[in-house]
Amino acid sequence: MELTQRLAAIADFIPPGAVVADVGTDHALLPIYLVQSGKTPRAIATDLNKKPFMGACLAVLNRNLDNLIDVRLGSGLQPLSPGEAGIIVISGMGGGTIINILEESTGILAHTERLILQPMADAARLRLWLAGNGWRLAAERLVREDGRIYPVLVAEPGEEPERDTLKLELGPRLLEQGDPLLEDYLEKIKSDYQKVLSGLARSRSREARDKANILTKKYAGVREMLRSCRQNAR
Ligand SMILES: C[S@@+](CC[C@H](N)C(=O)[O-])C[C@H]1O[C@@H](n2cnc3c(N)ncnc32)[C@H](O)[C@@H]1O
Repeated sequence: MELTQRLAAIADFIPPGAVVADVGTDHALLPIYLVQSGKTPRAIATDLNKKPFMGACLAVLNRNLDNLIDVRLGSGLQPLSPGEAGIIVISGMGGGTIINILEESTGILAHTERLILQPMADAARLRLWLAGNGWRLAAERLVREDGRIYPVLVAEPGEEPERDTLKLELGPRLLEQGDPLLEDYLEKIKSDYQKVLSGLARSRSREARDKANILTKKYAGVREMLRSCRQNAR
């Protein structure tokens, strides 16, 4: 089975031999790939909604993989027992939803060796949450799919060394390692900041002015990072 670039990047971060839980699995593409390729001996695939849950059950049964992939219905990490999966993947959801899932199940997280998270939005908020809740960003990678750039975050228990809030929001490992898609990623963030700043400029409230002041500093910081990114590329 061929994975999309996004799911393939997630699969790359799964250590061989690890038992994986794929939370919000939808069609169970990732766990099917992992057990069929022999990378993973066993996987748990969960989904909150009945339709994707049934789709995952069928996909697993059709390939006779029901002895290797356990498909479960339920929200977030609730269908898991502590310690049964060392690696937890949560991908294809918003950063806020991922944070809610993590906050609701700290008991499971206490036994988790690695989180592989792929937020569709709000990656900055998710990175800040991880750093503030005992997780360090072990690795990060950017993937382009369908014309959009998606970050893949790998978090492990420990202290995040990056102290600069803006760098933490943008992706400290991406910045350190100069990801090949970093320039495009920062350009998109800069243009998102610009749009928010234009909206704030239309308001006369003090709150809007305060927000604009903070965002203007961030905007300048991203411009500076883009400049050094381009210099390094020369
Ligand atoms: C867009 S799909 C992503 C599928 C796959 N993980 C991927 O990255 O391609 C999001 C899936 O997450 C499920 N989902 C949303 N909230 C969830 C939650 N709190 N717990 C478990 N699954 C959830 C949805 O039902 C849906 O099947």
